[in-house]
Amino acid sequence: MKHLLATEGLKYHDALAILDTAEEMAAVTSREVKKLPTLRGRTVVNLFYEDSTRTRVSFEAAAKRLSADVVNFSAKGSSVSKGESLKDTVQTLDAMGADAIVIRHSAAGAAAQLAASDWSEAAVINAGDGTHEHPTQALLDALTLRRDWAAAHGSASPRGTDLSGMRVLIVGDILHSRVARSNVWLLRTLGAEVHFAAPATLLPLGVEHWPVTVHYNLDEALVAAPDAVMMLRVQAERMGGAFFPTAAEYSRRWGLTDERLTVVQQLRLGETEAPALILHPGPMNRGVEISAAAADSAQTRITEQVTNGVAVRMAVLHLLLTGDPR
Ligand code: CP
Repeated sequence: MKHLLATEGLKYHDALAILDTAEEMAAVTSREVKKLPTLRGRTVVNLFYEDSTRTRVSFEAAAKRLSADVVNFSAKGSSVSKGESLKDTVQTLDAMGADAIVIRHSAAGAAAQLAASDWSEAAVINAGDGTHEHPTQALLDALTLRRDWAAAHGSASPRGTDLSGMRVLIVGDILHSRVARSNVWLLRTLGAEVHFAAPATLLPLGVEHWPVTVHYNLDEALVAAPDAVMMLRVQAERMGGAFFPTAAEYSRRWGLTDERLTVVQQLRLGETEAPALILHPGPMNRGVEISAAAADSAQTRITEQVTNGVAVRMAVLHLLLTGDPR
């Protein structure tokens, strides 16, 4: 693999190699000295045209823990505001030496355009392109799910295992969600069953052709589907029009409210005694798609998702720049 642009088309053995390497990286990050020398002398450029907290900071932490040099570029406050193009910006940063470029952009396909161009020879990692894909988010979600799934089924280690038989329910603003798209492809590759619950206005055109089961009632979906419930952020910044009447109405019909939390608390991971899981990619709109009690419950893995993001991004940088699975 030269680039990581999407989970659609990511091969099973490549996905497992990333997850297994991430487990090795997670072991490093829990040591007193959290560094490896593997990318010493290499430069990672974080090229962010959209806002980010988790992805940008964790790519920076990941690169530094592998001893790489890091250049952080944010379009806000840069010469992009003077009209500089993506091509000229990339070529400018590349001229300072880039071995990997991590790009977040509002345009679907921006990462693929960069990877296909002659603007840079660097490895390209898609950190979110419009509503298209966010592959490292799906990989960190899979790492998080796999830990609990493997432990509940008595595996001493999640290494080498997949998500066969797991039922994952993705809820909410699927229309605007690159996280949902990347999760569908990766979860299916790893053997999981994927369910959507969303209002019809927040489902993509052609969803009936996706490898998912669609529910139009969240309470029915909770009973039918999940070992894990992944709540999505309502992406108000991508909504030009009214997709639902009010935030209160959305929460009542599609939110993981305190009442629905009591239902999720009864759910189990497959046939085991372990409780079902709650995930959210962040940032959360507390009180809209998820209540404070649900966000902070014992079944929730949101903090673990963030921690696992560093390990997954270390694994991706390591594999792309050295080709050496650990
Ligand atoms: N989940 C995610 O991509 O968060 P950020 O926008 O904060 O990076």
